[in-house]
Formats: sequence, C-alpha cells, structure tokens
Amino acid sequence: MKHSSYPNYVTRFYDLVYADVRDAVDVNFYLRKIRETSGRVLEIGVGTGRIFRRALTAGADIYGIDNSASMLKRLRKNLAPEEHHRVSLQSAVDFKFDMKFDLILAPFRVFSHLNTIEEQLSALRNIRQYLTNKGLLIFDLFVPNPKMLAEGISELLDFTGEYAPGKKVRRYVSSYSNIVEQMIYGKMKFVWDTNKGKISREWNFTMRFFFRYELEHLIQLAGLNLVTILGDFQRHKLNKNSKEFIVICFK
Ligand SMILES: C[S@@+](CC[C@H](N)C(=O)[O-])C[C@H]1O[C@@H](n2cnc3c(N)ncnc32)[C@H](O)[C@@H]1O
Repeated sequence: MKHSSYPNYVTRFYDLVYADVRDAVDVNFYLRKIRETSGRVLEIGVGTGRIFRRALTAGADIYGIDNSASMLKRLRKNLAPEEHHRVSLQSAVDFKFDMKFDLILAPFRVFSHLNTIEEQLSALRNIRQYLTNKGLLIFDLFVPNPKMLAEGISELLDFTGEYAPGKKVRRYVSSYSNIVEQMIYGKMKFVWDTNKGKISREWNFTMRFFFRYELEHLIQLAGLNLVTILGDFQRHKLNKNSKEFIVICFK
C-alpha cells in the first residue's frame, strides 16, 4: 500500500485550521447524507475524523480508512477504545472489508491524492465492489480555477490561530501548476510559537485536478452510474460559477 505523506506538523494543526476554513462549508452536507442512510457508512480518507467523529457521536454505524498513519494516530486519540476497530490504515486503491456499505464518502478532495488513471480507476472499482445494491458513493473535488492555475499562488498567509494559550500558528501556502499533467504542486509552510522560539516547517505536496467530463468518463469506466454532480454543498446544480464538484453515483 502506498502511504500518504501527511507529516506530523500538518496533522497536528489540521483540526484547528479546518475548523476555521472548512467546517462551515461541508460538514452539514455530509452529516445529513449520513443521517439519511439507514445502514453502514464508510469514509475513505477519514483523516483526523473531522466529519467521522461527529457522525459517530450522532449514532452512525460508520467506518473509516486512511493511508496516513499520522492522521489515523490523531483520530484514534480522540476515539473511545471500543470504537478503534472502526478505523484502519488502508488505501482507497486496494482496501478490503468483509462487509458492504450503503454509503461510501470521500470528503474534502481525497481523490486529488490519486494521481494516476490506474489509481483512480482501481479506487472507483474497489468502491463499487463494496457498495450494497442501493448504495451511494459521494465525493468532492474542486473545480479548477483557470486564473489560479495560470498564475499560481505566491506565498500567502491563509491561516493564523492559537493552538495553545498564547501560542500562535501561522500557515502560508503557495503553488504552481502543470496543466498538461493536471497537477498542482503546492507548498504549505507552518510557523508556530514554542517556549524556545518559533519553529518553521515546509511541506511539499501534489494535487491532481479534474475536469467535469473526465470525472463522468471515470465513473462510467469504473462501472458506476452517475446520479448527479452538484456545484456546491447547498445542493445547487453545477454551473459556470461553481467552485465544487460534488459527485454522487451508485452501483
Ligand atoms: C484533505 S484530507 C480529508 C480528511 C477528511 N475526509 C476531512 O474531511 O477532513 C485528505 C485525506 O485523504 C487521505 N488519503 C490520501 N490518499 C489516500 C488514499 N489513497 N487512500 C486513503 N486515504 C487517502 C490523506 O491521508 C488525508 O487524511
């Protein structure tokens, strides 16, 4: 299994950063989909459990996989020991279970980590195998922004927060793209206060971006059926101003 490269300092500040910049965007949408499901749910790329932990508290029969040991370590720390069996170190590409799911989710750009067509199709075909007959797959990706792809982002402070009383953390992001490869090469720099002064660490990562009809073709090639691609978490149809692809399909 290919492990994900999320370093410890990214994992450590993940919940703090995304409580601020992401929770209000997508959490209610996914929790509602989970609530509407009577059976088992699987979250692929469960991360620190930003959505998973809320769903579990609300009584969902939810399981989670992630191929980052550091993300899972953080998630387990926040789970009661009797719930640890629900999460496992596995990849979307080749995960295995001895059960099927009525809803499989991959929230917050998990598929952008699948760089090659082989990985994307393996993941989708694998998911298909673990969906019940009436099961749904829902995942989201960002709509590529042509201006951002063309110009890139030069170092931008996109988050400042307090991770402990009186101790700040700042996150700077920058990126450039390769349109032909459909890849974004990003850098996140974290700078945080400690008793001995500031620490600064940089993480280089890649994100594969997708276009609408490419997604439709992948879904079809994997033997899945598209229900719809929404354009935002308020359930609006995709339009020329949409920022999100929210893909919903069934077996
Ligand atoms: C942006 S995070 C999203 C985490 C969580 N779903 C959320 O909404 O906060 C993406 C997650 O996908 C995981 N990931 C990346 N590639 C993966 C793969 N091939 N299989 C499973 N998880 C993967 C990463 O380790 C990371 O935890």
